[in-house]
Formats: sequence, structure tokens, C-alpha cells
Amino acid sequence: MTNRPLVAGNWKMHGLKASAGELQKIIAGAQKLSHVDLMVCPPATLLADFAAAARGSRLAIGGQDCHALAAGACTGDISAEMLKDAGAQAVIVGHSERRQHHNETDAAVRAKALAAGRAGLLAIVCVGETRAQRDAGDACSVVRAQLDGSLPGGAADVAVAYEPVWAIGSGLTPTAHDIADMHGFIRRHLASYYGEAGRGTRILYGGSVKPENAKELMAVEHVDGALVGGASLKAEEFLAIAGVYG
Ligand code: PGA
Repeated sequence: MTNRPLVAGNWKMHGLKASAGELQKIIAGAQKLSHVDLMVCPPATLLADFAAAARGSRLAIGGQDCHALAAGACTGDISAEMLKDAGAQAVIVGHSERRQHHNETDAAVRAKALAAGRAGLLAIVCVGETRAQRDAGDACSVVRAQLDGSLPGGAADVAVAYEPVWAIGSGLTPTAHDIADMHGFIRRHLASYYGEAGRGTRILYGGSVKPENAKELMAVEHVDGALVGGASLKAEEFLAIAGVYG
């Protein structure tokens, strides 16, 4: 079974209203890419504008994080329902930058993924090991623990993004062989967790995906697309990455 690929851009804390021109280029380019789903996850300040601009196009818009509650006394937080209301179709949860800098635990990530499902959003659940964990031979056990702790149960609408922490923003990537090992491992785990539906769960690779390496990385078995950080800020680079799917 091959899954329809998804290439999602994580803009992180980048982008002002002036970025609308870059978005328009992505929307225009997306119309020509019929074999891949495209998504941009802008900062929350731009989400409603971007969703309005992308409405009716082939580009989906997602959030970068959500709170587990639908509403409440949570200053500064944004709920999955609010993202949905602003026009989002998905939300990234458990990105390593949130796990590291905001002390998000697996349980917190699972609560966010459940919130996404409750609001009708696809949850893109991020997992990945640090350099020290890989060097110690613990990459698979770390990822297994993150999957066990972070994935919502049931046939929730979920994609997994495997993002080795040391590959994010560093220009480094695992070898195709190491990615194949990890994605095969995640696929087997998803199948045991979700049964047959787990074969249809998309597993994205993320971490220094660029136009130069996208073809090789996206060709690896069980890589169903990419979560792209830095290179998603430039329409030309982002479209070149998605363009490997033709
Ligand atoms: P990068 O980021 O492509 O800039 O390495 C990926 C991510 O953090 O999702």
C-alpha cells in the first residue's frame, strides 16, 4: 500500500503580513502538483488570512500547536477548535522545539492530539531522538516510547512526523538506510497500534529536507512525505521539494 504523500511546511516563528506574496506563489504552484497534498503551517497570527487566501485551492493550512482544552482560562494559548474556526485543517503537536523549550511531555502531546481529533483536525504528531540518544543506540526505543505516550487511541486522524532532533535546522540528515530502518519500525508499530488503519497513517520525514536531498529522502520506503522547516519559507524551495512527487 502506498499512501498519498503530504508535504507540510512548518514556518515556526517566521512570517509577517508581507509574507502573503510567498503564500500566493505556493498556492499557484500547488495547483500544478496533483500527486501530493500540500500544507503550510504559519504562525497563528497569519493563520486566518492564509486560510482565507488558500480556500478553494490545493493548499491546506495548519497550526503549529494547540491547547488540550477547547476553551478556558489559558492566557496565550490557542485551542484546536479555534484553529479549526480560523480555517485550519491540521495541527502539528509535539514538535521537538515544544518538547524541549516548553517541557511538553508525551502525555501532554497525546492530550493535544486528542484535542485535534475532537476539533476535526489532522494531528501531525512529531517524534525523534537526540544525537546522544542515537549515538547510544537508543533511537528506536526513544521513538517507541514517544509513540506509545503521544499517539491518541482509536482510528484518529493522525500523521506521524519522524524528526531527529539533531537533523532539525542543522543541514544534517540521517542516511537513507537509517531513515528506512526508523520508518519501517514506526510503520510496524502503527500497524500493531491501529491495526489495518495503521498502514494508511502517513509517516513524514522532517529535518533539513531541501530541494537537493528531497528526491533521495522521499524515495525511502515508508516515507509518505515531509515536514519542512526552513526550506518551506521560500515558495521556490518548498515547491521544488513537493515537486519530487510530480
Ligand atoms: P528544518 O526543520 O527543515 O528547518 O530542519 C524541520 C522542522 O523542524 O519541522
